[in-house]
Amino acid sequence: MSAAPELLRLEGVVKSFSSTTGERGELPVLEGIDLAVARNETVAIVGPSGSGKSTMLNIIGSLELPDRGRVLFEERELSSLNEQELAEFRNRRVGFVFQHHHLLAHCSALENVLLPTLAQSDRGRSSGHEERARDLLERVGLGGRLAHRPSELSGGERQRVAVVRALINEPDLLLADEPTGSLDRAAAAELGELLAQITDERALAMVVVTHSMALAASMQRRLELLDGRLESVEVPGSPGA
Ligand SMILES: Nc1ncnc2c1ncn2[C@@H]1O[C@H](COP(=O)(O)OP(=O)(O)O)[C@@H](O)[C@H]1O
Ligand SMILES: [Mg+2]
Repeated sequence: MSAAPELLRLEGVVKSFSSTTGERGELPVLEGIDLAVARNETVAIVGPSGSGKSTMLNIIGSLELPDRGRVLFEERELSSLNEQELAEFRNRRVGFVFQHHHLLAHCSALENVLLPTLAQSDRGRSSGHEERARDLLERVGLGGRLAHRPSELSGGERQRVAVVRALINEPDLLLADEPTGSLDRAAAAELGELLAQITDERALAMVVVTHSMALAASMQRRLELLDGRLESVEVPGSPGA
């Protein structure tokens, strides 16, 4: 469909959890996920609660391991990366945005955004991280909130800080798990629009799990996770594939 080079590929990804009721047997969650995401491509994943959307994102981000199947990033299998390469992958190549912001309460907006840069050897003000953080916060309309702590920000503002934190190391892929799920309608619409704009501006790929039809419609492709598998879905009024 797209001639753009491939960034991410999942092949036959299977994942079960052991039954939590103490009975014998496994709870199958993902039953053969195939997915290819091009550079700069945006994909929305919808599906009922408990269908495995978070599990799939966590496997893409190498936070969880599949039981079977392969996850390739730039044609390299994640399972072949050593500890250091995996840490680099999680810190530099992928940005995460979750339903709840996970900002540190005692840190300012600016400090929260800079946290993912602290692990790097080229740390310090000289590397331009702080300037980049200020520019990005300005870009999302928070130029006047740099010193605010999370408790001094609205829900929508906190999620914008979380988005900027996910972008600070210039990832190639943004993974977002119900990023608008804890926001009111207006703030959710605003954040969805921002995510669509930012991925476009920065030529980022994004896989976003969402219940928001508006956010799903602003992505290039929509897939539904149902019974452990991904299927294409169409949203009325969307540009359509
Ligand atoms: N660490 C775990 N241990 C056992 N079961 C889990 C674990 N994580 C998720 N599950 C189960 O896997 C299923 C899918 O969960 P999840 O990926 O969080 O779904 P979704 O994000 O689509 O709501 C659910 O039934 C959930 O209870
Ligand atoms: Mg989930």
